[in-house]
Amino acid sequence: MSPAPDRRQLLKLLAAAPVAAQFAAAAPAEAAPAEAAPADAAPVVGAAAPGVVKPLPPELFTIRGTNAETNFAALRGTGPLTPADRFFVRNHTSTPRIAEADWKLTVWGSGLHGRRPVEFSYDRLRSLPSVTRTAVLECAGNGRSFYASQQGEPATGTAWTLGAIGAAHWRGARLRDVLHLAGISSTAVDVLPRGLDDEFISDGANLGRVRRPLPVAKALDDVILAYEMNGEPLPYDHGFPVRVIVPSWVGIASIKWLGDIEVSDRPLSSPWTTEFYRLFGAAYPAGGSEPLTRQTVKAAFELPLGASVGAGRTHRLTGRAWSASAPVRQVEISTDGGAHWQRARLRDTPHRGGWVRWTADWRPHAIGPAELLARTTDRAGNTQPERSVHNTQGYLFDAVVRHPVTVV
Ligand code: MTE
Repeated sequence: MSPAPDRRQLLKLLAAAPVAAQFAAAAPAEAAPAEAAPADAAPVVGAAAPGVVKPLPPELFTIRGTNAETNFAALRGTGPLTPADRFFVRNHTSTPRIAEADWKLTVWGSGLHGRRPVEFSYDRLRSLPSVTRTAVLECAGNGRSFYASQQGEPATGTAWTLGAIGAAHWRGARLRDVLHLAGISSTAVDVLPRGLDDEFISDGANLGRVRRPLPVAKALDDVILAYEMNGEPLPYDHGFPVRVIVPSWVGIASIKWLGDIEVSDRPLSSPWTTEFYRLFGAAYPAGGSEPLTRQTVKAAFELPLGASVGAGRTHRLTGRAWSASAPVRQVEISTDGGAHWQRARLRDTPHRGGWVRWTADWRPHAIGPAELLARTTDRAGNTQPERSVHNTQGYLFDAVVRHPVTVV
């Protein structure tokens, strides 16, 4: 999907507009910017994703371009938190290795009293009161491949199945505290966190460093500048030394390797709100939807797609269910392609922003192909439809996934 030349021109201007040069010293020394992986890059099993630091064994991950998808089957037997060694990685370019001693955060912009930049060292950030919160992090494109495989409606972008999600315990400083210490003024409307990873090149255009604005109301609400994940310092691939965590919003809002935050008294945009991470397509206005904020509701089996299961035996099916809007109320399972449904047993207390593990027993008799379905409904009444409304970039897939298995 190539944007029209005038839009492309605009994006180049937008990319150039931030005061990148002023903070260039904060950037890690890095190789030349990486090209975007082809949108439809075939998954590679058992190879390293370029630019990811942690090991990506094929039993835990499926490599998709510069990204690594968690194999859902690898979560079976793990607790409600996703261990860092199997947490998905979504990198626009590659993971920078930044030493905490060299790191600083610069908060700057027209929305600060006096408009003077304020810096925070790693130690200063860690000395602020900390909060800990369990939150799932889910890519807006999670489930994208099912637009094509299940609905016959292809979409551009990484062909994730359901593993572009993980849940973790995040500890860090409140963004609210940092903004107040920096002197945020009552005229501020948007804040724009930006990463220290390489500039992102898309279709030959340099879009600058990964960044996406947040309205001040969200920034002052529940956003964390996290330095710990599951009780350990953040791993390199997940944003060390400090990343943003924006609970219940699409993963792109949670900027990794945070370097600076612009605080503005005017609305801000970036290619991650204008070109990407909004909905375009027949069901949406010509300029697209509003920029994406909340994620949707989903369920997944901890079973490979296309798994073989033995006939005449009882199988304990396991999986996870989540919703960004409200705690999960129920999960229903169908083992006959959607003709009949049974309630799954929830194994965790549902809470907003987290996921629940569930189990259901199944004793298949008929040998041959079968489809397993899991459908989540949350306490706000959101439930998974049979079809998702298509958008060209394949975001926010929320339909019930028809999980193929073979009974042998
Ligand atoms: N932040 C930076 N600086 N660079 C990135 O490539 N990817 C975003 C977000 N933050 C990204 C980023 C996207 S699209 C997602 S889904 C999450 O990080 C993924 O976080 P994870 O790799 O820790 O799972």
